[in-house]
Amino acid sequence: MKKSIMKTAASTLCAVAMTACAQVPSNQTEATDEKARTEIPADSIIKLTEPDKTLDVSLMQALSDRKSQREFAEKQLSLEELSSLLWAANGVNREDGRRTAPSAVNSQDIDIYVCMASGAYLYDAKQSQLERITTEDLRPAVCGQQQLVAPMFLVMVADLSRYPEGIASQRQVVEGLAKMDAGYVSGNIGLYCAAAQFATVPRASMDKEALTKALNLKDSQILILNNPVGYMK
Ligand SMILES: Cc1cc2nc3c(=O)[nH]c(=O)nc-3n(C[C@H](O)[C@H](O)[C@H](O)COP(=O)(O)O)c2cc1C
Repeated sequence: MKKSIMKTAASTLCAVAMTACAQVPSNQTEATDEKARTEIPADSIIKLTEPDKTLDVSLMQALSDRKSQREFAEKQLSLEELSSLLWAANGVNREDGRRTAPSAVNSQDIDIYVCMASGAYLYDAKQSQLERITTEDLRPAVCGQQQLVAPMFLVMVADLSRYPEGIASQRQVVEGLAKMDAGYVSGNIGLYCAAAQFATVPRASMDKEALTKALNLKDSQILILNNPVGYMK
């Protein structure tokens, strides 16, 4: 009898202790906590979240893992993942508004259009938001002749009118600079994807005529590269 009371008391104490342990103060995160996963809304303006700068992968590891992958799982990126991806690609990383990717004469000429099933969005790095350009699914136009099924494509468009007047008038020169700038953005995407274990591939091929029309691009805007992004298959 005595033994069973002792046993009951011990198990009650144990349960109380376990409950106390489970009540971690809200400002502390348990190491085992899953990261927040919000579905990307299909709104006309999508407010992005703060980039997750705690991703703990060394540069050398990301370089070891970087590779072109052309197969993607169906699972969608979360809003948090898309926000970090875009910030890594070409987000604002300094108070003076400069970006994670360099650009010739700091022209900040590269815009990223995010093409998803819900439509195509322009990334506004300064406002940290996506602005819908069209509700049309432009992924087939970004695929062009190539058969690729991905949840989203990041399309890099240079606006040559952002160069200072003296240079902007030399179209061939600025096109060359813009192509290099897009390469840096695509490079950032490739490295971030390697670190976050997403699949991607830099692509020059796409249906430029269809995209120029659908995205309502000006004469000064040129389509350069695109990166499909998704979970690895
Ligand atoms: C400027 C450029 C354009 C590319 N265009 C395409 C493309 O249109 N389609 C494609 O599947 N891969 C494209 N690629 C990916 C290359 O085929 C790939 O980088 C190459 O095979 C080397 O493989 P790795 O990236 O795994 O090292 C392109 C790469 C670069 C740098």
